[in-house]
Formats: sequence, C-alpha cells, structure tokens
Amino acid sequence: MKKVKYYHYLIILLIISLFIIPFLIPKKIIIDYEQKVRISINEIAYNTDFIHKLKNGHLKTSKQMIDTSTLGSQIINFIVVDNYQKEHTYSYELDVYDEEKPTISFNKELIIEKGSLINLLNNVIVTDNSKENIIPVVKGKYDMNQKGTYNLTYEAQDSSGNVAREDFTLTVTASKESSDLTTNSSLTTNPDSPTTTNFTTSKGFSGTTINGVTYIDGYLIVNKTYFLPANYGTGLTSQTKEAFDLMSAAAKLDGLNIWLQSGYRSYERQKTLYENYVIRDGLTKADTYSARPGHSEHQSGLAFDVNQINDSFINSPEAIWLAKNCYKYGFILRYPAGKTAQTGYKYEPWHFRYVGVELATKLYNNGDWLTLEEYFGITSNYQTP
Ligand code: DAL
Ligand code: ZN
Repeated sequence: MKKVKYYHYLIILLIISLFIIPFLIPKKIIIDYEQKVRISINEIAYNTDFIHKLKNGHLKTSKQMIDTSTLGSQIINFIVVDNYQKEHTYSYELDVYDEEKPTISFNKELIIEKGSLINLLNNVIVTDNSKENIIPVVKGKYDMNQKGTYNLTYEAQDSSGNVAREDFTLTVTASKESSDLTTNSSLTTNPDSPTTTNFTTSKGFSGTTINGVTYIDGYLIVNKTYFLPANYGTGLTSQTKEAFDLMSAAAKLDGLNIWLQSGYRSYERQKTLYENYVIRDGLTKADTYSARPGHSEHQSGLAFDVNQINDSFINSPEAIWLAKNCYKYGFILRYPAGKTAQTGYKYEPWHFRYVGVELATKLYNNGDWLTLEEYFGITSNYQTP
C-alpha cells in the first residue's frame, strides 16, 4: 500500500516537471538578419529593415531611419532583449554605394547668331541621386564667331565617377542687323588667339573677352549678357576687401555699422541659390533679383552685399550713407532704383561693386547714379530664354 502511494507521487512529479522544465531552461534567441547590406545613396532605409526573424526575445533598439547620404560603409548596431531580460548587441555592415549616373536637362538644339556671347551652361540642370552640386562641362570644339553646326556633348560626373553624356547641336547663324550685340558692339576675332574676342561698344569703349572673361575699357563686366567661366574666382579680391575695411571704418566714425553679409559666391553656390529662388518664385520673378549661375557679380570677387539683403534695408541710415559715400572708396551702387531696364535687376541698396575711385566717381554722377550698362553702352540680357 505504501509502495503504491510513493509510485503515484513519482508520476505526478514527473508530469509537473514536464510542464515546468521547459520554462526553466533558458531559450536561445533565434534571429535571422542580413550581416552585409548594400544600399543606394539617399535610399530610404530603417535600421530594423534587415532583421527578418526574431524569436525568444524582443528588440530594444527602436526603429530609426538610417543616414544613407554618405558613400562608404558603416556599422549598424541593434539590441535584442532575451526572455530573461538580458541584452544582446548585434551588428551588421551597411555599404552605401552610387552607381547611378546624373541626369542632364538641356536643349537639344541651340541656335545663336554669329558673334553672340552665350553661356552654353545656361538652362542646363544636372540632378543626381547623391544630391551633390554637379557642374556639367561642354565637350567638343566650337566657335561662336564662325557660322556652322557643331555637334557637342554635355558631360556631368558625380563624385562616385558615374558619368552622364548628352549630345546637342550648336548652330551659329549669320548675324542679323537688328541683333542687340551687333548694334551695340562691333565684334572682331583676334586671329592670333582663338580665345580672345575684341569688340567696341555702342559708346565707343573697347571690349575684349579673354578665356570667357569680358573686360570693357579694362573693367571686368558681369551681367545678364556677359558671364564668367564656372571655375572663375576664389574669394573677394584683396583690393575689394581692403577698400571695404576702409569704408566700414569711415562709417563707424559716423556711428554706423556696415558688415559683409555675402561676399564671393562660387558658381555652385549661385546655382543653388538661383535654383531655390526659381522653385520658390518661378523663373521670371527670380530673374529680377537673382543672377543665373555664371552671371553673378559675386563670382567676380569684386562685389558683395552688406547688412540686410532685403527691402528693409531701403532708406536705412546705412543705405543712405553708402549711396552717398561708397564711391570715395572705389565702390558703385550696382543696381540703383529705377535702372532695371539697364541692369536687368531691381533696386539693391545692399549690393556694391569695386571699380576703383576714378570710375566710381564718374558713375556716382553727383548723387544721380549711372549704371555700368549706361556708361559703357552695353546690354544686360540673357541670350537664351
Ligand atoms: N542679386 C544679384 C543680382 C546676384 O544674384 O548676383
Ligand atoms: Zn549682391
């Protein structure tokens, strides 16, 4: 009898153990995740996207977007908590790559008149998945002073070395009598140097374009007609900076504070600014206050904006002082009020251009500012829409 009872106890204990023991043995985390991930630059991905299976534990790391904006590999860590609240760290390698070439928006056919000075990069927009600023180059030989059809290529390369190429044709036609440039200037090509073009403005000043940079009477000119090569300029010229320091010191003595708000701007910087303005206000409006890349005086290193770059600066004591005194330091008020037809831009009381005291005094014109366009007899119009 006693023996039977003991036997019963044993069976009951065994049955209970069968239920309890599985809970007492720690269960190993079962996880399946990708240990090496390749992803295209700027692709949207989350840190948990590559974990395919997880058992006997839960994720402690919260779901977060991965920064995929930089090329190269990075280690992504995540923590899993097992059923006994113990934390385990796992990691995988994420390799950000870029094999996509940029996209070039352009005009397939450009038709210009002989002797025109046209920036072939105007209206060419390069976009890329890397979101970097890419300046295209023109490949092929052409001469804007020689009639003919030129087969050229725009080439754009991203920092990963992916190259996009798009072919276009440039047709140079005979010049028309009514053309802006031919009535305003007589163009001749210097046969000794194919990169030099000489011309005379409608007011009789001699102009020359050397390697894409135009000088009239020795003064560098940048406006909607005349542009700078994309690689031109590095910073404000020392003359501009020194003259500015003298001018701001003089203003300080009169109790006014004048500071540099925007000085030299590279082609790329201007491109970003201009494109953002076009997105915000449309092309027509943006063209009234922002220069297209290659056409900004800021790229010359001879121009700058002071204090507030907005209409709140109009009629401020600093704006009034500058308009009256800047010429003494060699600066001109580059975009005076009421001169939009000449300069191509609305009134900018904050934008000054260094030309030296002699020309600045002439353009000051006893307080009735003249523009470079009026003085030299030149236009400021984009040659392409
Ligand atoms: N705001 C002047 C025109 C420029 O963009 O250069
Ligand atoms: Zn400016």
